[in-house]
Amino acid sequence: QKGAYAHYMLKEIDEQPGVMRKLVQEYFNEDGTVKIDQALLDDLSQADRLYIVAAGTSYHAGLVGKELFEKLANIPTEVHVASEFAYNPPLLSEKPFFIFLTQSGETADSRQVLTQVNKWGYPSLTITNVPNSTLSREATHTLLLHAGPEIAVASTKAYTAQIALEAILVKAYGEAKNIERAKEFDVAKELTKVANGMQELVDEKGKIEQIAKDLLATTRNAFYIGRGVDYALAQEAALKLKEVSYIQTEGFASGELKHGTIALIEDGTPVVAIITDPKMAAHTRSNAQEVIARGANVLFIASRDLAVAGDQIILPDIDPLLSPLVSVVPTQLLAYYASMQRGYDVDKPRNLAKSVTVE
Ligand code: F6R
Repeated sequence: QKGAYAHYMLKEIDEQPGVMRKLVQEYFNEDGTVKIDQALLDDLSQADRLYIVAAGTSYHAGLVGKELFEKLANIPTEVHVASEFAYNPPLLSEKPFFIFLTQSGETADSRQVLTQVNKWGYPSLTITNVPNSTLSREATHTLLLHAGPEIAVASTKAYTAQIALEAILVKAYGEAKNIERAKEFDVAKELTKVANGMQELVDEKGKIEQIAKDLLATTRNAFYIGRGVDYALAQEAALKLKEVSYIQTEGFASGELKHGTIALIEDGTPVVAIITDPKMAAHTRSNAQEVIARGANVLFIASRDLAVAGDQIILPDIDPLLSPLVSVVPTQLLAYYASMQRGYDVDKPRNLAKSVTVE
């Protein structure tokens, strides 16, 4: 139940540090090794390519998962929108392994792909928050998100739980395959750091409420920009803002703006720049300068070690590959407050249902 909270969305945003700790408890042994079923690791280890299939926010968690699998464990990974894959499947590799990301476990578009995958006879994993859900029952393997019920239509804690669990799975896979980078990556320690970092951010609500008022009060459109995982995050941040505040928002690769979309920047257009990766920080800042020169009102969200004077939201330092786990928090809060300030029903946005069981 909501308890002291006015809305589920805010409660669920606040629960995220606890979900990170719960995942560490559930998936790590005392000695620091990962607790994941050997049969799953065997199937995964035989794959030559991973196919992550999902919709909406879960798809955005998949985009981050691709970075984790490829960068930490050297396994080629594709991410597909379920409704696209269903009627237009890509050419598959010889030994594909399918990962379905779905909070509800009931999304019809994802289920349709799983049915096809089962006909083909390929192994699959469903990562879901709901034990015994349809996609859990129909896949070869299941991993549970342990995020607790997510009631608000806009997904928050399931997104961060999905990314955390992808990281845990990469770790287990890397250990099974003896991959140096994955073995060195201390996921349990990073997730504990993430939990603490998320707590700092949710404790700054008042500040973010004020930023939402200053930046988003009357605008009709907005942009999130970033590169690499910050681009993946930008897409999720944009979905969150548009679905609860009805502000038309796009998440864009910051280097791609100048190839057309920059034409939309006017005096006062809100642009949120996400900067968490040292390799790309200078490039994103220079893209931000390009929109500032055209009148945009830019909010910088940057990791502590990359921040410069004037950046408004500073993120606790964690490994750049896991940065969406913390950078998403202020963007969830911006969406929540923008919806509140416009007087909308934040837990039940118009035209949306919590689980989309139609194709
Ligand atoms: C957005 C949102 C949706 C879901 C999507 C997939 O906040 O909640 O985009 O992420 O409908 O749902 P699941 O993860 O249940 O398959």
